[in-house]
Amino acid sequence: MAACVNEITSEEVLDENNDPGAAPFGNFINYYTFNPPENRLSLIPQTLIHDLGYKASRETILLLDVGCNSGDLSVALYRHLQQKSLSLEITAGEGEAGLHLLGFDLDESLIARAQKTNPLPQNISYIPLDITQDEGSQRQLESYLRKHSSSSFHLCLCLAVTMWVHLNHGDATLLKLLSRLACISQHLLLEAQPWKCYRSAARRLRRLGRSDFDHFKDLKIRGDMAEHAREHLEKHCGMELVQCFGSTTWDRRLLLFRRKDGH
Ligand SMILES: C[S@@+](CC[C@H](N)C(=O)[O-])C[C@H]1O[C@@H](n2cnc3c(N)ncnc32)[C@H](O)[C@@H]1O
Repeated sequence: MAACVNEITSEEVLDENNDPGAAPFGNFINYYTFNPPENRLSLIPQTLIHDLGYKASRETILLLDVGCNSGDLSVALYRHLQQKSLSLEITAGEGEAGLHLLGFDLDESLIARAQKTNPLPQNISYIPLDITQDEGSQRQLESYLRKHSSSSFHLCLCLAVTMWVHLNHGDATLLKLLSRLACISQHLLLEAQPWKCYRSAARRLRRLGRSDFDHFKDLKIRGDMAEHAREHLEKHCGMELVQCFGSTTWDRRLLLFRRKDGH
């Protein structure tokens, strides 16, 4: 059986050189040293925005990056998608048109770093936000959408975040997270950590002498996490799976969902 190669086990290697702390929310200070953006970017087509039917030269296309950590992947993905989405179109972007990305994370120091190193402040913004804090987070996301005269994000990225919300807040909050993201986006790109990573995360916390994740033992949703997410999104959120971009080197599928008509 393949070893559970994931952010937890890989990160153990880093402990010796540069202890990232317990990171109970997956808020690793050096995440991109052990999971470089290229691991995911190599699976995502550069033509994605165009393939989804959007014209970045004429429209404002809004991307949302949930749990963006220090922003390295947000910037790399923005560049990855932007180049091709404009070159496939004839006219150059004007004014507001083009790609805009909002990244958020609950860890304020990671967001401060993302803001400080942001090479594209006109088009990429970062805010500290905990998606499980319903009211506050809703207000902030709606305010960003209003500013860009849109009622939803065109593409929401939720990469390597579901496990942390699930372990810290339980089954109901995981489902609520998926429902909320489905509600505010036309398309959702999801990378759900597999169950074996939950066990590694719990083991690691115990080894560091920290108390267990609040919910690990009572989680009823377990097993094939990507399949559970798909089932919830399709049965209860009016979304459908349109494509799988393959699996990362950490054995995680990148699944693309879209909102069905009428939802
Ligand atoms: C493992 S990192 C993944 C970072 C990035 N999405 C990626 O795939 O490269 C998980 C991130 O999710 C953030 N996170 C966890 N729970 C969150 C929540 N409730 N609200 C916002 N961010 C959260 C963590 O702080 C952490 O930076």
